Amino acid sequence: MHAKAKHQLQGEIREISCRDEYCRMTIAAPAICHVAAAGQFVMVKPAADKSNDPLFRRPFSLHQVVDGLLTIIFKIVGRGTRNLAKMQAGEVLDVVGPLGKGFQLSSEPRHYLVGGGMGIAPLHLLAESINRQNPQSEIIALLGARTARELDAFADLQDLRFLRVELATDDGTAGHHGLVIDLLERAVAAGGRGAVYSCGPWPMMKAVALYCRAKQLPCQVSLETVMACGVGACLGCAVSGADVAGDGYLHVCKDGPVFEAGKIWL
Ligand SMILES: Cc1cc2nc3c(=O)[nH]c(=O)nc-3n(C[C@H](O)[C@H](O)[C@H](O)COP(=O)(O)OP(=O)(O)OC[C@H]3O[C@@H](n4cnc5c(N)ncnc54)[C@H](O)[C@@H]3O)c2cc1C
Ligand code: FES
Repeated sequence: MHAKAKHQLQGEIREISCRDEYCRMTIAAPAICHVAAAGQFVMVKPAADKSNDPLFRRPFSLHQVVDGLLTIIFKIVGRGTRNLAKMQAGEVLDVVGPLGKGFQLSSEPRHYLVGGGMGIAPLHLLAESINRQNPQSEIIALLGARTARELDAFADLQDLRFLRVELATDDGTAGHHGLVIDLLERAVAAGGRGAVYSCGPWPMMKAVALYCRAKQLPCQVSLETVMACGVGACLGCAVSGADVAGDGYLHVCKDGPVFEAGKIWL
């Protein structure tokens, strides 16, 4: 789905909470929320940072969009996320969005949402969007992480009554002791075909895409690359496209981040 419009605004932080290295931040951004779609992202930086250097903004998936408030969930991995984690409610962010092309909502009656690590972030809004489009849909979230602690950041998915959630962890501290692709194979074997949406580490998405190709299931992948400008200007987020005219590259920030799996060399 394409962005209807992109906004740059000053968004007040309404809530922020961090536990270990995982933070949840809710930002007032009505203009962005009004046009946002599942799978799109925002670029944010502290508004007090007056450098006006777009390289200081960082991209985050829209986790939730409710009544003009958008929520992001992020992991502290470097300077940008460390600075954001130090901010407090009432402080203001420079926010640009919604950016990129989000998920196409399939008309299939069954939907498998496969997330790994911080790639789980966009699946809450995706599940709500599918349910809103067709409340009869069967929606199954298959979530994988290294440990149960990482999955705790996304506990709110368990509150969606229309969503069935299954977990997998590398260390066996929650759910299936193993890979999330095992859950997908089992769920499809038990439940039958459906549309697959995937976001997470590249090896996970590659496994999901190959499985879907073998089973002829429609599959979309949401890619996360390092991004600088976020709007197609710096060409820093290029990935190799399959059957793409021109230089053979697609840009995650404007052509994605969501792609049909067959359009990308994973
Ligand atoms: C479309 C999109 C959506 C995203 N959504 C989320 C989200 O919802 N939650 C979340 O926690 N993160 C998300 N990310 C990743 C997030 O943007 C980066 O973790 C963040 O920009 C790192 O900034 P930093 O300054 O803290 O770290 P930096 O100092 O820039 O980097 C620290 C380390 O993280 C690595 N890194 C930076 N960006 C990425 C990336 N995109 N993927 C993998 N490794 C990276 C760097 O190579 C480096 O090793 C998303 C990225 C994209 C492109
Ligand atoms: S991040 Fe600059 S072109 Fe995509």
